[in-house]
Amino acid sequence: MNGRSVALVTGASSGIGEQFARLLAEAGHAVVAVARNRQALERLALEVHDRHGIEVEVLAADLETPAGVAVVVQRIADGAPLDLVVNNAGFGWYGPFGEQPAASVEAMVAVNVTALALVSRAALASMLPRGRGGLLNVSSTAGFVPGPRGAVYHATKAFVTSLTESLHEEARPHGVRVTALCPGFTPTGFQRRAEVGTDGLPGFAVTDARMVAAAGLAAVERNQAICVPGVPNRVVRVAGQVMPRALIRRVSARVLERI
Ligand SMILES: NC(=O)c1ccc[n+]([C@@H]2O[C@H](COP(=O)([O-])OP(=O)(O)OC[C@H]3O[C@@H](n4cnc5c(N)ncnc54)[C@H](OP(=O)(O)O)[C@@H]3O)[C@@H](O)[C@H]2O)c1
Repeated sequence: MNGRSVALVTGASSGIGEQFARLLAEAGHAVVAVARNRQALERLALEVHDRHGIEVEVLAADLETPAGVAVVVQRIADGAPLDLVVNNAGFGWYGPFGEQPAASVEAMVAVNVTALALVSRAALASMLPRGRGGLLNVSSTAGFVPGPRGAVYHATKAFVTSLTESLHEEARPHGVRVTALCPGFTPTGFQRRAEVGTDGLPGFAVTDARMVAAAGLAAVERNQAICVPGVPNRVVRVAGQVMPRALIRRVSARVLERI
């Protein structure tokens, strides 16, 4: 890669992560794009290079596995220093907890929690001694409230928000920026993989993937600890803070019945 600033984005093969990669390339940053789907990453790299003359390095890795996480951790430690790491890869599953396949529980914790924590650790280990850089962790409004019929997903995102807030405070005195991005319902491949829809939700509650990614990049630029794109999603955050827990659980259950 040349002398441009370099950003690594996990989950860049579709949805919000693809938009991160596109926006970063449009702004002149070289991108290291991580996901399992190598073909999708290569298509993106070709298109971005043709349009913007920006190099996208394709790093195929399965973040469910320790070997896949090691590939990303090693790229962060050994390659050209990264200016931004975006931990975006993740997925959800909806239905009664007892019906969630054990493999799905394990994979979700591996990708949403373990991989994100280890990649965050590698990013900060490289950035803190340099006194510069940014880490953007994609959480969710799901992290603000419990999620009956989405229990594991909500718990993984509560982890992401909590971890990221702590890291924000640890990194702040060293000049390294750390932000949790908490989107709400955003039509992407997420719904296809989770086998849910957004049809039962009012249009105003649904956000656009490009807008979400742009909000996250602006937030990490100004070192905002938590970014919640869209007014309805900010209401969810405040509700999670002020409403009685029993009421939040019931409202959340009603909403998740509709998706
Ligand atoms: N869409 C929403 O409504 C919504 C709301 C709040 C938060 N989020 C969060 O936003 C993030 C991005 O999701 P999205 O909505 O953009 O969904 P998406 O379109 O399904 O994209 C998910 C990305 O994660 C990657 N990924 C999944 N499992 C992986 C694995 N084992 N190893 C490596 N990469 C993996 C996928 O790539 P491959 O399949 O190619 O590996 C894909 O690039 C997730 O963390 C999600 O929880 C989404």
